[in-house]
Amino acid sequence: MEIITAVKGFKDILPEETGKWQYVEEQARKIFTAFGCREIRVPILEKTDLFARGIGEATDIVEKEMYTFRDRGDDLITLRPEATASVIRSYLEHHLYAADPVAKLYTIGPMFRRERPQKGRYRQFHQLDVEILGYEDARIDAELILMLIHFLKSVGLKSPQLEVNSLGCPSCRPSFRESILKFLQGKENDLCDDCRRRISTNPLRVFDCKLEGCKHIIAQGPVIQDFLCGGCRDHFAAVLASLAIFGIDYAINPRMVRGLDYYARTTFEVTTDFLCAQNAIVGGGRYDGLIRDLGGPDIPGIGFAVGLERLLAMMPADQSENFIESPSLFIAALGTEAQKFAYQLCNRFRRQGIQTEMDYTAKGLKSQMKRADRLKCRKVLIIGDREIESRQADLRDMQTGEQVKVTLDNPEEWKDRI
Ligand code: HAM
Repeated sequence: MEIITAVKGFKDILPEETGKWQYVEEQARKIFTAFGCREIRVPILEKTDLFARGIGEATDIVEKEMYTFRDRGDDLITLRPEATASVIRSYLEHHLYAADPVAKLYTIGPMFRRERPQKGRYRQFHQLDVEILGYEDARIDAELILMLIHFLKSVGLKSPQLEVNSLGCPSCRPSFRESILKFLQGKENDLCDDCRRRISTNPLRVFDCKLEGCKHIIAQGPVIQDFLCGGCRDHFAAVLASLAIFGIDYAINPRMVRGLDYYARTTFEVTTDFLCAQNAIVGGGRYDGLIRDLGGPDIPGIGFAVGLERLLAMMPADQSENFIESPSLFIAALGTEAQKFAYQLCNRFRRQGIQTEMDYTAKGLKSQMKRADRLKCRKVLIIGDREIESRQADLRDMQTGEQVKVTLDNPEEWKDRI
């Protein structure tokens, strides 16, 4: 019979990889906490409206990538394609802003987008998402980016390249939009079907097109920087000045529009050379109107999401063994009595937090040692009938080969040597 395989674009994270995941998540928790963020856990299913209103009807995500279905109660629900809308929904639903609008939140978990799977692009992927609500100050934008870069470097990313832009605000963006429309007039036939449609739905999205033909056309188009109002220009300059305080290198990418509609003012991405087409490992930005658009008070916000699969693919491969915690001790036991003793000692050490293994298949010493080797155990205790009788056994260091005699009657005496 054929085995049943996973759904296309959905990937297992195997035991030899999970150590790396845990390490990255731990680093994130440590660093985000030091910067004052607290964890929030939100559901992976939400009402479809939340994403349609939050992310924008005319985005690729909402138009064609969401896993949306009617449940048995006929409600229209969606597997979350990102976390920002959910975090804000929760912030509003639970009135987290009532006593103090400032909330620094982070969440870690799976997201779902029905994109075409390829290297670095999956249909279920994981994000580390941070949202800082309640602050409009440009210093917060730079501080958030500082935390991000610090985190990326802490997990071994050598040269994260930061790109920043400002997307303006509802008062200056309409003139930019007008100018794009004017620019695209007469070029409709050279655009792809999607972009032709975008002209009437959201012309800024043409900047987002992955097709070379459209990219080439829009590269000659107007740039938002020339249209920013005084407030947005000052804000952007203040963000750049704060980045300079921390010595953070950046490049301004005036054509970065981001794939979601909620952004205003600062946007940023972190890219690396390694992943070619799928090179953004982090995306983020300010979304000052989003909380209001989702029915809440007028509270500003900014955040980012790190794509964990992409980040992990960037981490040095030769490091991966360091993330697997191998057993401290293997008890090689020969004979019924020794096996009985080993069974008890093994579980006694485990309860004390010492990772200990033994063999349950009644194999000879050679194959037990082989197994200890394969598990990369640091020490092996070898016991047979003679050891049970003399109440003494050899504790072998698997790296140096050095052996010491230890007592079986009082393992507490030598457990610190394991
Ligand atoms: P995003 O740019 O759509 O932003 O996604 C952020 C990151 O998630 C990407 O840079 C990428 O690393 C990862 N990612 C996205 N799609 C996939 C995929 N199909 N396979 C693997 N990785 C993927 C957001 O989601 C915003 N919510 C970020 C944000 C938070 N903005 C403000 N707050």
